[in-house]
Amino acid sequence: MRGSKILITGATGQVATPVALALAEENEVWGIARFTDPAARERLEKAGVRCHAVNMAAGDFAGLPSDFDYVINMAVAKSGRWDKDLAANAESAGLLMAHCRGAKAFLHCSSGAVYDPPDSEPRTERTVHGDNHKSLLPTYSISKIAGEVVVATMARALNVPATIARLNVPYGDNGGWPLLHLDLILAGIPIPVPPGGPAVYNPIHEDDIIAMIPKLLEVASVPVTTVNWGGDQFVSIQQWCTYLGSLVGREPAFEDSDEALRANPLDVTKMHELIGTTTVDWHDGLRRMAATFHPDLINSG
Ligand SMILES: NC(=O)c1ccc[n+]([C@@H]2O[C@H](COP(=O)([O-])OP(=O)(O)OC[C@H]3O[C@@H](n4cnc5c(N)ncnc54)[C@H](OP(=O)(O)O)[C@@H]3O)[C@@H](O)[C@H]2O)c1
Repeated sequence: MRGSKILITGATGQVATPVALALAEENEVWGIARFTDPAARERLEKAGVRCHAVNMAAGDFAGLPSDFDYVINMAVAKSGRWDKDLAANAESAGLLMAHCRGAKAFLHCSSGAVYDPPDSEPRTERTVHGDNHKSLLPTYSISKIAGEVVVATMARALNVPATIARLNVPYGDNGGWPLLHLDLILAGIPIPVPPGGPAVYNPIHEDDIIAMIPKLLEVASVPVTTVNWGGDQFVSIQQWCTYLGSLVGREPAFEDSDEALRANPLDVTKMHELIGTTTVDWHDGLRRMAATFHPDLINSG
């Protein structure tokens, strides 16, 4: 993407920061968040991202330009307050679409957390929805489901082409869930896992996330396009923790917990058809992540 005016919400977040930095190289990128971390704002501004403070829970976009070519909605509120999180994750997505109704495409980042079938089979886009993340984040799954419905409705009402992409375990040189696991391993703390065997996911590296964004925007449509968004490789928490442990010379301990999130593998057939495959092998991506955060322990080569 070159020469476009792009709005990224939640620009200081784990997933959005590398996206904003990459897109800012050749586009006019605006980032919104509350900017609770001034250092995160400064990092974006140094790279040329124009930062504008907005509280998505209030849904007031006054003062923010509206003439964006593309909008990438990556903000997410996890306060546990139903009023705030539904407002930020669902209602505001619709208000933002109304504010930017001239956009060529609106990409709404959702989550595999919308699925909650009784089994551990790979989830297609039609798999049973439910309150999958209830044990850890009480408002998360339901507000993500609500956000999808708002985006789908507003795409039709306003004729704004939109894509809903259900992301699964994003990670990379800006962190992610596997980094939390690595830090538990280094601290000698057991990693909570759901009882009953390997907890399988499709981790996706930030390089693949960045590479796929233009394609996700290209397939935006009315009615909305909904697609799973994860790495091509199925990897369990147990596998990635064992590998991370081998990099730092520690054997991870696992602890069965009913509170731990269940396996959530995604069927990425539709993703392959629409936007292609991912490229970063999970061993390589995790090694790079570990070397970024613990250069003293791991040789980046
Ligand atoms: N990380 C994962 O493992 C994962 C997995 C699946 C899907 N996803 C999805 O990926 C997207 C990005 O997630 P992430 O993990 O990168 O998020 P994150 O690191 O928690 O960052 C959230 C971003 O949203 C902003 N934000 C939070 N509350 C806000 C509010 N009320 N108003 C405006 N901005 C607000 C935060 O900045 P301030 O706090 O400064 O406002 C921050 O920039 C989300 O849609 C998430 O559901 C993430």
